[in-house]
Amino acid sequence: MFKLEGQVAIITGGARGIGEGICKVFCNAGATVVMWDILESGQETANKIAATGGKISFQKVDITDRASVQTAVENVVKDHGKIDILINNAGVIRDRSFMKMTEQEWDTVINVNLNSLFVTTKAVLPFMKEAGYGRIISASSINAMAGAFGQTNYSATKAAIQGFTRSLCREVGRYGITVNCVAPGFIQSEMTDSMPDEVIAAGIKMIPVGRIGTAEDMGYSYLFLASKEAGFVNGITLHANGGAYPI
Ligand SMILES: NC(=O)c1ccc[n+]([C@@H]2O[C@H](COP(=O)([O-])OP(=O)(O)OC[C@H]3O[C@@H](n4cnc5c(N)ncnc54)[C@H](O)[C@@H]3O)[C@@H](O)[C@H]2O)c1
Repeated sequence: MFKLEGQVAIITGGARGIGEGICKVFCNAGATVVMWDILESGQETANKIAATGGKISFQKVDITDRASVQTAVENVVKDHGKIDILINNAGVIRDRSFMKMTEQEWDTVINVNLNSLFVTTKAVLPFMKEAGYGRIISASSINAMAGAFGQTNYSATKAAIQGFTRSLCREVGRYGITVNCVAPGFIQSEMTDSMPDEVIAAGIKMIPVGRIGTAEDMGYSYLFLASKEAGFVNGITLHANGGAYPI
């Protein structure tokens, strides 16, 4: 397995779901993880992972709030000396057909899923540049490519993240920083738990490996891109979807 010993990772949206899976896998790989979330339950998640030997702490941080992100980043550097890895995992959905979608539903998704990358990534980059090393990995989605009924707002942000990734990688590669994203397919999480059983069964039928993905599956996809060994992989979208969508 790829190792992250001695490396410091910020993982956003780690209180549950895919983010929790990334935190677990990164801790098992030896990283020091700082998990951010707006949910208080992030502390409980961090405690559970710490009880199994993980080096993890929780900070309540809203990734859309520039001032608190800046302070939180400075605290990570104060506490741990550096930031090697930023995982922009946090995201939301506000699904509704476009004709019925409210401006608030549109703005919330654009703000949390996309504008937050401006906030978090801008805050960590100076430290990564100074260190001459960094890994920035963001959450796209299969629906960036496939589209989905009721997800014009969400799909727009997830496609934009791929463009952001390809452009930023050209700017910061010279500093030893790589920028990539993961496009999860159909993954079991609180986001998908709210779906009716028949929708889940129909979704699984579309997946050649014959099962829904797990948070840990995603954790390993992120782990590869976060590893030192992936230093020549830059600007890509890793499609982790069990073969569900022909890319
Ligand atoms: N589950 C899937 O099938 C799937 C598929 C493709 C992409 N994704 C993407 O993967 C990421 C994780 O998805 P998930 O299914 O685990 O979702 P989730 O809803 O279970 O978890 C998202 C986490 O982000 C946190 N969060 C939301 N807004 C935040 C904010 N402003 N500041 C800090 N934290 C915030 C939430 O509190 C939550 O803990 C998302 O970006 C999602 O779009 C998920």
